[in-house]
Amino acid sequence: MQGSGKGRPDVCGIVAYIGSKPALPILMEGLKRLEYRGYDSAGLALINGGLRVVRSVGRVSVLEEKVRKEKDLHGTLGIAHTRWATHGVPSDSNAHPHRDDLRPRGHGIAIIHNGIIENYASLRTWLEEQGHTFTSDTDTEVLCMLISELYDKASGMTLERAVQAALREVTGAYAIAVICEEEPDVLVCARKGSPLMIGVGQGEYIVASDGNAIVAHTTQAFALEDYQVARLSRDGFRTTTLDDVHVTPRIQDLEIELQEIELGEHEHFMLKEIFEQPNALRNTLRGRTDSREGRVVLGGIAEYARDLVKARRFILLGQGTALHAAMIGDYLLEDLAKIPAEVEYSSEFRYRNPIIEDGSVVIAVSQSGETADTLAALSEASDRGALTLGIVNVVGSSIARGTDAGVYLRVGPEIGVASTKAFLGQVTALTLLALFIGRRRFLSADQVSQYLAELEATPDRIEKILAQSDAIRDVTARYIDRENWLFLGRGHNYPVALEGALKLKEISYIHAEGMPAAEMKHGPIALINDGMPCVFVATRNSQYDKIVTNIQQVRSRGGRVIAVATEGDKAIRQHADEVFYVPDMPEPMQPLVTAVPLQLLAYHAAVLRGHDVDKPRNLAKSVTVE
Ligand code: AGP
Ligand code: GLU
Repeated sequence: MQGSGKGRPDVCGIVAYIGSKPALPILMEGLKRLEYRGYDSAGLALINGGLRVVRSVGRVSVLEEKVRKEKDLHGTLGIAHTRWATHGVPSDSNAHPHRDDLRPRGHGIAIIHNGIIENYASLRTWLEEQGHTFTSDTDTEVLCMLISELYDKASGMTLERAVQAALREVTGAYAIAVICEEEPDVLVCARKGSPLMIGVGQGEYIVASDGNAIVAHTTQAFALEDYQVARLSRDGFRTTTLDDVHVTPRIQDLEIELQEIELGEHEHFMLKEIFEQPNALRNTLRGRTDSREGRVVLGGIAEYARDLVKARRFILLGQGTALHAAMIGDYLLEDLAKIPAEVEYSSEFRYRNPIIEDGSVVIAVSQSGETADTLAALSEASDRGALTLGIVNVVGSSIARGTDAGVYLRVGPEIGVASTKAFLGQVTALTLLALFIGRRRFLSADQVSQYLAELEATPDRIEKILAQSDAIRDVTARYIDRENWLFLGRGHNYPVALEGALKLKEISYIHAEGMPAAEMKHGPIALINDGMPCVFVATRNSQYDKIVTNIQQVRSRGGRVIAVATEGDKAIRQHADEVFYVPDMPEPMQPLVTAVPLQLLAYHAAVLRGHDVDKPRNLAKSVTVE
C-alpha cells in the first residue's frame, strides 16, 4: 500500500549529518539557516554509543541554551529539526526528534519529519495493541514506532529496510531522516511530497529540507524524489524505491550563493529584500527583453507559444501575495494580450469542480513553488486537460516541476516571511508573458518596444522610491498607534491596495483592509472615524479623478489620507494629509512602483511596534498544508 495522500506537509526544517566531523555544530548552524521558514519548536538527536535527544519548544536559541547544559553531547551522526505543528500543540514532548520505546523493547531509533501522516490514528491504535507506549500527540511518533516495530536487524530487517517497509504502510506526505543506535554508521532518509536535498561531501553527507543549510558545506547535491529512500554511510550511499529497487540520483551543483542568504548591511531580511528589488528585477528581465526589436524572449514557454497565442482563457491561481500578483496578471493579460483572464484563490479553485475547456491555460503563481493549495489546484487543472504554466521563484520546486512550462522569477532566495521582491518579480514575469503573447496577437513591435523600455527603466525608478524610506518611516510613525487602516486603489492598483493591507497585517499585526476604492462607499465607509488612516493609490491614470472623489469621501468623514501619487502631482496635496511620490509609469505597469512605498510602510510599522519582522507570529514562509 503506497501513500497517495493529498495533504501536503508544511516545509519546516530538516538537517542531518553523517561524516567524520562533530555533528552538533553543523546541525545547530543548519537549524539557524532554516529558521527563516517559521517554526514553533526545535530539537536534535545524536548517536555516540547511545542515542541522545534534546528538544525544546520555542526558538533555536532556546534549544542552543539547553544543549549547552547537556554533558558529553558528541557524535558524528545526527539529525535536527524545526517543527511547525500540525498534529499536537507546540510543546517539548511534541517537538522532534521522536524516538521509539525505551529498551529493551526499543532499538534506539530517532526520527525527524516534515509533513503529515494521514493514517496515523489507525496505525497508532494498532501499535498500542502491540504494546508500544506513546509520549506525544504527533503523527511522527507513530511513524517512528512503526519503523521500530518492523525493525529486526538479525533477520535482515535493517534500518533501511524497516523504513521502506513502514513507508509502504503510510499515506500522507513526508520528508524524514532516521537514525538508530544499533546501526551507528547509517543515516536513512526518504521523501514523498516534501523537499529533501542530500549534499554530498568527502566521506560525509549533509541532508536538509533546502539548499540554504547545505551550501556552507558542499555545492554537490541531489534532490530525493517522491517515494525514494537514501541510505547514507561514511563509505557511500545508495538510493532505492520503497520496494528496494535501486535508483541513480543526479548530482548537481547547488546554485545558491551563500552571500545571497546573508543579511548584509540591513537589519532584517525583509528590508534587504525590499532594497534588492531593483537588482532582482534586472535579473528577472536579463536576456528576456529586446526593446529595440520589440521582442520578448522567454525560453521556458517558447515551445508553447502557439498554444498561448490561441488560448481562449487564462485562469490565474495563487494565495496571499502571489494571488495579488495573479490579479495584476489578470489585468495585464486582458490589456496587453487581449485574452479573457480570471483569477482565483487556488484553494477555492481546487474544490469548485472547475470548468476547463479547450484552450484554457492555467497559470500558477508562487514564490516557493511548494504552496499546497496551489499545487493541488494545478494537478486538478492538469487532470482536466489544461495547459499549465508556472510563475515561480524556486527552481526545481514542486510547482515548477509539475507545470508544462513557465517563467522563473530569478529574484534570488526570499528569506523574509513577508513576500516583497518575489511579488515584483511575479508582476514583472507576468508583464513579460502578456507582452510575449500580445506581440504575437495585436501589439505592434513599436508598442512592445515602448513597454519594454518602460520595464527596463523600472529598476532605476524603484531606487528613487527606496531613497524615501526614512521619510516613509516618519509618516508611518505619525499613525503608528492606529489599530485600523484601509487601503484603497482602482484598476491595476486595486490588487496593490490588497497587497498593502496584507503586508501591514502580516508583520505589524495592525488590522488592515484593502478594497477597490469605489467599494468603500458600499459599506466599509461606516468604519471611517476621526483619524483613521486610509492609504490611497492615487497615481495619474485613467481613474485619477474618480479616486480623488473617493479621497474626498474619506476626508469629509474625518479619515486621514496617505496618498501614493505620481511625481509632479502637486494638486494631490490639497486632498491628502501625506503623499508618497512614485515615478510615472504606463498604467498597466504602475503596480511595479506603487507597491514599493506600501512595503516600506508595513516594514517600518512593524519595526516601530517592535515586532520580529522576518518571523512574524503564526506564519510560515511556505504554507504547504491545506
Ligand atoms: C506573503 O507575504 C505571504 N507570507 C503569503 O501570503 C504568501 O504569498 C503565500 O503563502 C503564497 O506563497 P507562495 O508564493 O510561496 O506560493
Ligand atoms: N506532522 C508533524 C508534527 O506535527 C510534522 C510537522 C512539521 O512538518 O514540522 O509534528
